Amino acid sequence: MAHLLHRAVRGQNDHLIDLGCGDGTWLLRALQTYGGATAVGVDISGAGFDDVLGEAARLGVADRLELRRQDVAEYRSSRKADLVLSVGAAYAFGGLLETLNAAREHLAEDGLLLLGDCFWEHEPDPAVRAEIESGPQKFADLPTTVAQVVADGWTPVYGHTSTIEEWDEYQWCWTGTLAQWALDHPDHPDSEVALRMSADHRTGWLGGYRGVLGFVVLLLRRTPPSAPTEAS
Ligand SMILES: C[S@@+](CC[C@H](N)C(=O)[O-])C[C@H]1O[C@@H](n2cnc3c(N)ncnc32)[C@H](O)[C@@H]1O
Repeated sequence: MAHLLHRAVRGQNDHLIDLGCGDGTWLLRALQTYGGATAVGVDISGAGFDDVLGEAARLGVADRLELRRQDVAEYRSSRKADLVLSVGAAYAFGGLLETLNAAREHLAEDGLLLLGDCFWEHEPDPAVRAEIESGPQKFADLPTTVAQVVADGWTPVYGHTSTIEEWDEYQWCWTGTLAQWALDHPDHPDSEVALRMSADHRTGWLGGYRGVLGFVVLLLRRTPPSAPTEAS
């Protein structure tokens, strides 16, 4: 995360908007590092906001951080951002190109976009593809994904492709935290469903898309209209 933010934040006073920000951790890290930066995070869930805002207060950056519990489709920014982030939330917009369009709306003229999305590392088994693409989002391989972004008028200036270790860490945390909570709260009415969700997700991952679905974070600038067209 740090090396991506280091490249993505260009000025101490940058304004950041994170669309689908989760608990707001990316923004908190940025504000810690960049003393005059301000940030707005938008997420429909709001889970973890209180913890991150508490941590922001402890670190003395709370006055520069706004976390909004809101649908990203409804959010209208009052100030254009030097950096828009949207990491793992493209499904909230209906897909990659829709996310690029939304980001454009919030971005200052020379702003940067940090976009994270999945791609097919290897051709998936048809059943795995059907499961992962059961929502509005369809995925492509990495060259095609990047070509779609470029064709939409963006130039990648950096990127990070998640390693299998990073994916494993993410998935073990996701499934493990949920399972831990269920086991710690056996009498809670949601305990059984949480344990089932954790197990189903773990099975779908280990038996299906582990090593097949990839994740890439691209740092993007808008391509000037005068730039030569990239060869495909
Ligand atoms: C995979 S998480 C990624 C969170 C964060 N960007 C990160 O990298 O840790 C996707 C996030 O998108 C949020 N989300 C999904 N649909 C949304 C919507 N319509 N409006 C706002 N947030 C949404 C979810 O609540 C979730 O926090």
